[in-house]
Amino acid sequence: MDFSGSHILSIDQFERSDVEKLFSLAESLEPYSNKEKITKVLDGAILGNMFFEPSTRTRISFGASFNLLGGSVREITEAGSSSLAKGESLADTAQVLSGYSDIIVLRHPDEGSVRKFSESSRVPVINGGDGSNEHPSQALLDLYTIKKELSQNSKTVDGLKIALVGDLKFGRAVHSLCKILSLYDNVKIKLISPEELRLPEKDTQLLQSKNVTLEETENLEEGIKDVDIIYVTRVQEERFKNKDDAKKYKGLLSLNKEIYTANCEPNTVIMHPLPRDSRKHANELDSDLYENPNLAIFRQADNGISIRMALFALVLGVEDQVEKTSRAVNWHVTRDH
Ligand code: NCD
Repeated sequence: MDFSGSHILSIDQFERSDVEKLFSLAESLEPYSNKEKITKVLDGAILGNMFFEPSTRTRISFGASFNLLGGSVREITEAGSSSLAKGESLADTAQVLSGYSDIIVLRHPDEGSVRKFSESSRVPVINGGDGSNEHPSQALLDLYTIKKELSQNSKTVDGLKIALVGDLKFGRAVHSLCKILSLYDNVKIKLISPEELRLPEKDTQLLQSKNVTLEETENLEEGIKDVDIIYVTRVQEERFKNKDDAKKYKGLLSLNKEIYTANCEPNTVIMHPLPRDSRKHANELDSDLYENPNLAIFRQADNGISIRMALFALVLGVEDQVEKTSRAVNWHVTRDH
C-alpha cells in the first residue's frame, strides 16, 4: 500500500509487507519515543485529534506521538462540545476540520462513521475506533507487542497460538487484531467468550478463509491452556442496547494468578488493550498478576507511541527525513519500571 496521503481506516488495507515496513520504522523511532533524541520533522503541522467517545491511551498517545515528531495538536474530546451537537453533519464537520488540520484522528461511536468522514476530508484521516467495527492502530501496536514479547522466547508470529478472551462480539480491538493475525502463517486462535458475545460470523469466516485454525469455548481454564498469548478484553457495555444485559457477562471470564498458574505455560504473555474494568463485579484481569513478568499490558500501551509515530511519518511522507532535524535531548526523566 502507498501510505503517503492515505486514510488509515481498516486493517483490510494492509498486506504483511506493509505491517513489516511500519514495524521497522517504529523500531527506528524508538530513540525518539524513549526520549533519547528529538526530531522536528513535523514542525508546523497540526493534528486534529477528534474523540467523540471516551479515550485515555489512544487520544493521548496519538497526540504525544505527533508532538514527538515536532507537530502541534488540537483536540475535541466530546461530541457535546462540537457542532455535531447542533445537528451539523459529519461531512460538513470533515470539510471544516480538514481546513484547520494537516491530518485527523477520529474516534466515533458509529460503525463506518470514520470512513464516511474521510470521504469529505481534504486531509488524511486515521480511524481511532469506529463503534464496534475496527481499531486499526490498536491492532498494529498489539501485533508489534506480540512480536517483541515472543522474540524473548525465540518465537515468531508465524505459528502463534493466542487466546482471545471476553467480549469478542463488540470489541473493535479484537476485530482488527483478528484481521492482522490472518496475514501470518499457521496461526491458531482460541476464542473464549460467552455464547452471546462470540466473534461475529464475518470475522470467523475471514479467519477460516485465511487458514487460521479456530477453536471456540466458553471455558477460560480450558481455553488458555497451551497458548503463547492471552489477550483479555472488557465487556463493551456502551455497545449494549440495554445496559443491564452487559451486567450478565461481567465477571464471567476473569483471569487471576490462581487460574493463570494452574493452566498456563510458564512464559504465557498476558495482554489487554485496556482499560481493564477493575470494579469487583467485572475484574476481567486481576491486579494480583501485577508482579508477573509476563504481564505485558503496560509495555503494550507504551508501544502505542512508536507505532503511532510511524503511522504519522508514513502517512505524511516524512519517514526518510526524521534524522535531518534530529538532536539529543537535554533533559532526563527516570521511569523506574
Ligand atoms: C479499546 C477501545 O476503545 O476500543 N481501548 C483502547 O483504545 N485501548 C478497548 C476498550 O475500550 O475496551
